[in-house]
Amino acid sequence: MRHQIFFMFLQHLYLQNFRNYSSQSVAFNASKTILLGDNAQGKSNLLEAVELLATLKSHRTSRDRDLIQAGTSTGHIKARLKRELGLSELNLVLRDGGRRAAMLNGETFKRQQDFLGNLNAVQFSSLDLDLVRGGPGGRRLWIDTLLTQLEPVYAYILQQYNQVLKQRNSFIKQQTSAADGQRFELARIDATQMAIWDAQLATAGTRVIRRDRGFCKD
Ligand SMILES: Nc1ncnc2c1ncn2[C@@H]1O[C@H](COP(=O)(O)OP(=O)(O)O)[C@@H](O)[C@H]1O
Ligand SMILES: [Mg+2]
Repeated sequence: MRHQIFFMFLQHLYLQNFRNYSSQSVAFNASKTILLGDNAQGKSNLLEAVELLATLKSHRTSRDRDLIQAGTSTGHIKARLKRELGLSELNLVLRDGGRRAAMLNGETFKRQQDFLGNLNAVQFSSLDLDLVRGGPGGRRLWIDTLLTQLEPVYAYILQQYNQVLKQRNSFIKQQTSAADGQRFELARIDATQMAIWDAQLATAGTRVIRRDRGFCKD
């Protein structure tokens, strides 16, 4: 499997009621940009906005309320991207207590996951040494984030796997808790049902592994 990485350049970013920015327009004209600023001026907030467009997630918070400027109810992150097929406009609307809206060229995506893959970004920091030094959990998460951008379908594959894993675990829990204090007594688990869950987990897991392998080869 080959991932084709097309040309992409973030030309322009516009933030409205996002973190400490009330209304901020930023044009990226050069091939490299260095953000310099005092502490708490909003450097990380700006990168966080790009991260949100790339992954629909922030590594700092899972609550949109934190992202929206204090005292306001709706935040906007807009971007103009240059790709070889032309320009595209991305727009992410964050609402306090409401659903997000993700748009490409003015059209709202029904499934927000379809928004992924438009803006590609990779984040590095001194903490990324943990990728090498740290445990496998962190590495997995990093690869997952990257893969989800390159191949949005991976988000579904991963979601399916996690769902089967959760259901299989709760099946085991339910079966073993019936055995009054004797946890993990395998003999009491319905073998036929267990085999079904194992098979499903294996199928979903194989899909995840296949994607990862393809990615690591590239
Ligand atoms: N939801 C928010 N509303 C208003 N200000 C915020 C919000 N979230 C964070 N801030 C402010 O953003 C600033 C931190 O910005 P940050 O980008 O982390 O700074 P740095 O330039 O040091 O990376 C702080 O002053 C903080 O109060
Ligand atoms: Mg910072």
